[in-house]
Amino acid sequence: MLNIYDPAFVKKLFNRMSASYERMNYITSLGFSLIWRHQFIDTIKTSDQPVQVLDLLSGLGENWSILLKKFPNGKFVALDFSESMIQSSSKKNHKKLNNRFLILQQDILANELHEGKYDIITCAFGLKTFDEEQLQQLAKRVFNALKKDGKFSFIEISMPPNKILCFFYKLYLSKIIPVLGSLFLGNPSDYKLLWVYTEKFKNCNKAKLIFEENGLHVKYKSYFFGCATGLIGTKQPTTNTL
Ligand SMILES: C[S@@+](CC[C@H](N)C(=O)[O-])C[C@H]1O[C@@H](n2cnc3c(N)ncnc32)[C@H](O)[C@@H]1O
Repeated sequence: MLNIYDPAFVKKLFNRMSASYERMNYITSLGFSLIWRHQFIDTIKTSDQPVQVLDLLSGLGENWSILLKKFPNGKFVALDFSESMIQSSSKKNHKKLNNRFLILQQDILANELHEGKYDIITCAFGLKTFDEEQLQQLAKRVFNALKKDGKFSFIEISMPPNKILCFFYKLYLSKIIPVLGSLFLGNPSDYKLLWVYTEKFKNCNKAKLIFEENGLHVKYKSYFFGCATGLIGTKQPTTNTL
């Protein structure tokens, strides 16, 4: 039986989608993805210190310009396992970003991260392709990789709790997006799958519990009436961390 959470399956999916992903991501979120990217990164305080930043599941490097502005003296690492995504993001890193990012091509589930290295971990739209067990592994890695007072912010497309909004969002993501997908890509089934993942994922509630079980201090965040949800938090809270 097809396992949509099998890393090999997910990797192939993103390898196929890489050429159209940025445009489609923008369209799937009705243009909100850009606003959400700013908002989820803005949950972490701006710093001009040489902070160590890890952008997980970095895709085409969509978060990178925002991260560079927010942490101008940061040291940046990005991680993704899709060769095609990495190929495009490496070009961007080289041509536009002065090679500020060290890009790791790794499966986050199969590799440990550098222990206690990072002040900040960000991750946009990468949670939905993990099942519960994989989220457990991810949470462990985030916990291990963060410094004691390290912070993180994750965001994911979600099903809004309002039934009417959810109906139209579902119609849009499950019916209209695949048609747009076929126009851009000739492969509507890949884009239909994005909705399948979102419907199973629902929102960041479960991930919040899993992150907490793994020792992280987490606050749940809703973006635009729950069309996206997120997790912000820290390894060890101080009074003004969350
Ligand atoms: C939906 S894209 C998100 C890309 C980007 N962060 C963004 O903001 O749009 C998810 C990314 O996670 C990567 N990914 C999924 N599972 C992974 C894993 N186990 N290890 C490393 N990368 C993974 C995929 O290759 C893909 O580039």
